[in-house]
Amino acid sequence: MIVCVCHGVSDRTIKAAIKNGAASVEDLGASLGVGTCCGCCRETAADMLAEAACTGGGCSSILNAFPVFTLTPVAA
Ligand code: FES
Repeated sequence: MIVCVCHGVSDRTIKAAIKNGAASVEDLGASLGVGTCCGCCRETAADMLAEAACTGGGCSSILNAFPVFTLTPVAA
């Protein structure tokens, strides 16, 4: 699927760039031109970066930062 119509960049190409170290929309813009023309693809590119961070363990490490509380019933 083409994500950046202005530069003809596909989701596969963006995923490969993320895998090779692109960590921001600006990085994708510098290497692929994503988001550097009309900007319509910036949100999708940001979503792909966030998704990659989650599948790479970023979300689980955030969740692990917050303790899970157990609710205890209060006697009436
Ligand atoms: S669609 Fe990517 S800059 Fe226009």
